[in-house]
Amino acid sequence: MNIKERRTIRKYTQQPISDELLNRLLEETARTQTMGNLQLYSVVVTKSAEMKKKLAPAHFNQPMITEAPIVLTICADFRRTTDWCECRNAAPGYNNLLSFMNAATDALLYTQTFCNLAEEEGLGVCFLGTTIYMPQQIIEVLGLPKLVFPIATLTVGWPDEEPALSDRLPLKSFVHNETYKPYTEQSINSFYAYKEALEENKHFVEINNKETLAQVFTDIRYTKKDNELMSQGFLDTLLQQDFIKPDSTPMLSVVETRPEVLECDVVRFQNKKEKWVAFVGFLDGQPYEIFTGLMDDDEGIALPKSVTSGRIIKHIDRDGQKRYDFQFINKRGYKTTIEGLSEKFNPEYWDYAKLISGVLRYRMPIDHVIRLVTSLQLEKDSINSWKVGVARVLRKYLPESQQEELPEEE
Ligand SMILES: Cc1cc2nc3c(=O)[nH]c(=O)nc-3n(C[C@H](O)[C@H](O)[C@H](O)COP(=O)(O)O)c2cc1C
Repeated sequence: MNIKERRTIRKYTQQPISDELLNRLLEETARTQTMGNLQLYSVVVTKSAEMKKKLAPAHFNQPMITEAPIVLTICADFRRTTDWCECRNAAPGYNNLLSFMNAATDALLYTQTFCNLAEEEGLGVCFLGTTIYMPQQIIEVLGLPKLVFPIATLTVGWPDEEPALSDRLPLKSFVHNETYKPYTEQSINSFYAYKEALEENKHFVEINNKETLAQVFTDIRYTKKDNELMSQGFLDTLLQQDFIKPDSTPMLSVVETRPEVLECDVVRFQNKKEKWVAFVGFLDGQPYEIFTGLMDDDEGIALPKSVTSGRIIKHIDRDGQKRYDFQFINKRGYKTTIEGLSEKFNPEYWDYAKLISGVLRYRMPIDHVIRLVTSLQLEKDSINSWKVGVARVLRKYLPESQQEELPEEE
């Protein structure tokens, strides 16, 4: 098949794929390159309806799993090589992240070669990236031992559809000659113009009630929240499968000197009829500082509703006075800065915010910070609302599993 004609196939006829054809493809695919010629992969073939049904939830019940005659789960596998070493008086050292990456690379190369060969035969294939979203479930269903990790799933069958060819970005958008050329707003506009003008994509934006196609990706299809949650699951599973050790899980480093600029979330919340706002500054994806206060203070913060993120910038005046400014990009793309966050909020909240930010800065786990804030015994009503507000905001940054363990909100 001409590569210019290739497309993902998600609907298949009832016609079975013979064992002879499948085995030939699986065997020929093994001619693909692998690290040290170790073939650091394994393929689990699923044909039975019962097993497909068990796999489906791990793939968000995408219908191809149960409808395709064959489902292949391609795994990064250092188990076999490790066993071989142990049988041959050789000491394997492959329970680490680099080995995982090598095995994952082999598995992906095998996967792509299989796709090419299967498509040559006229078969239709769909790659399911959901394999690494909830790997734990797949490991359980397929009984994968330690040092084996599911990397890719292919649903394979004889095509029962001929979908339109999908678009591609132009060559010059992804090829850089000699050195990498940073993108500019102008080049981005030109590279994405075709994609954004496609009727189907415009329709996508419209039905999802979004302003841009990019928002469909960031706000609906691949959200920060989902990515962070599934990243944690991924790390937990790497640990469980022995590819990383507890003490090698990347620890958040303590950065004592606050960087000049921190990205931040803007979180609005209601506290006993009052409107509040929190600015949560981030470092390495974790809250590093938090500033909160009343929104409708006379001198308070006036922010357009659409602003949900921005940057907190630290300024040091000539006389050494520190000041924190909040900067966001408005709808028309202009930077707007609100100077002196500290001046806008009640000094008492500010002092407590400094205290909590200090705790965050030294990376006390968020659930402990919430317990600490919640346990403060404060006299005044206003500062008690502050405490409830901070705890509520911080909860947003906890994985769901940990949220359940925390005491109820006040
Ligand atoms: C890493 C990866 C993950 C994917 N995950 C899914 C998936 O979960 N479900 C699906 O229907 N298609 C999935 N696809 C297929 C893509 O949607 C498809 O390749 C892309 O839209 C381009 O379309 P085409 O292959 O027809 O040219 C995935 C492809 C890749 C490479």
